[in-house]
Amino acid sequence: MSDAASRSAGVKSTGVHRPTVAEIDLGAITHNFGVVRDHLGDEGAAPPRIYAVVKADAYGHGAVPVAKALAQAGVDGFCVALVEEGMELRDAGIALPVLVMSGLYGEGLGAALDAGLTPVIHDPSQLEALARARGRAAVGVHLKVDTGMGRLGVTLDALPGFVAALADQRHVVVEGLMTHLATADADDLAATRAQLAAFDRADGILGAAGFVPAVRHVAASAAAFRVPEARRDLVRLGIALYGVAPFPHAGPGLLPAMRLRTEVIAVREVPAGARIGYGGAWRTGRRSVLATLPIGYADGFFRRLSSEAEVLLHGQRCRVVGNVSMDMTSVDVTDLAASGVVRVGDEAVLLGAQRGRAGFDCIRAEEIAQRVGTIPYEVLTAVSRRVPRVYRNPTGHV
Ligand SMILES: Cc1ncc(COP(=O)(O)O)c(C=O)c1O
Repeated sequence: MSDAASRSAGVKSTGVHRPTVAEIDLGAITHNFGVVRDHLGDEGAAPPRIYAVVKADAYGHGAVPVAKALAQAGVDGFCVALVEEGMELRDAGIALPVLVMSGLYGEGLGAALDAGLTPVIHDPSQLEALARARGRAAVGVHLKVDTGMGRLGVTLDALPGFVAALADQRHVVVEGLMTHLATADADDLAATRAQLAAFDRADGILGAAGFVPAVRHVAASAAAFRVPEARRDLVRLGIALYGVAPFPHAGPGLLPAMRLRTEVIAVREVPAGARIGYGGAWRTGRRSVLATLPIGYADGFFRRLSSEAEVLLHGQRCRVVGNVSMDMTSVDVTDLAASGVVRVGDEAVLLGAQRGRAGFDCIRAEEIAQRVGTIPYEVLTAVSRRVPRVYRNPTGHV
């Protein structure tokens, strides 16, 4: 069939065919930004700046649309993990500061500087690389110190040596000093306070050598909410923007921004005792009606959720039965079917809210994370590339 013929026959040659999509509510994201901004502004002193963490494609929500919405809502800058992620923002015309927090590999430094990205440095070898990339031209960087996370950053023991190396490279301007907290979401904040004390000592070591950073930053979402003394000049805000509470009971008013939905592609009646799915892992205990959904673990709906998770249909929770397969998942809709409401084409929601004839409910990333034995960050970033992101509410309500 020619292109023209397929168009006239109503056949799409490209585009989205499967009804499985992740709806992203940009209004929820700008709302969540407003919630945190108001919270930070409540303390009386000048509120810290907010950089939105949009690494990993904005935790699966789509870095460019999210960054554009937040830029419009008044965010001060962005944090990414990789140079490539920073480039993507620049290519989309985003001119706000972008901090590259972890990924300067190979030629990455030169590329980052060319694109006007701000590198985070954490190792003396990067000073030489900066000199190679820029000669004696001034380069602004943020220096990361390791105060207890044990992952990345100059340790306090190594800092005096690092500062001496910095003194030889006066073209490197330490605009920012940062660290990352390991346990700001824990019940006991003693380790967090020890990290803050170490951060202040690091600041003192730098200051004694004449390096006075313009900005200091420590807090991510959890500390932004619950550790006022961690807020400093800037907060690096990630998970809260996407509507996930950074610790239990945090952030009332945060709205989930991702809704993973699909549609029923088959409704099947099966007898009691029937085995369902790969390995026959589920056996029906009664005559059952099952709905088949076109979504599976290749979309980020974890196989670990087999015979475990719930899915919303008509606003009511229905249980996943049998093993989640790569592209399909079966759901027990027997009770709903008894009232005659389940049909091919009905919407099923795997993450997010649904209102329907049978009620209203919401499945949050926190709930799925608990079932899988992981954290909500992994639930959101697991939603794979083959699930198209569809954007709603672009202007937001901040
Ligand atoms: C260095 C750094 N800062 C900030 C964040 C944002 O953390 P959160 O999503 O908990 O706000 C991250 C996320 O992993 C990070 O690695």
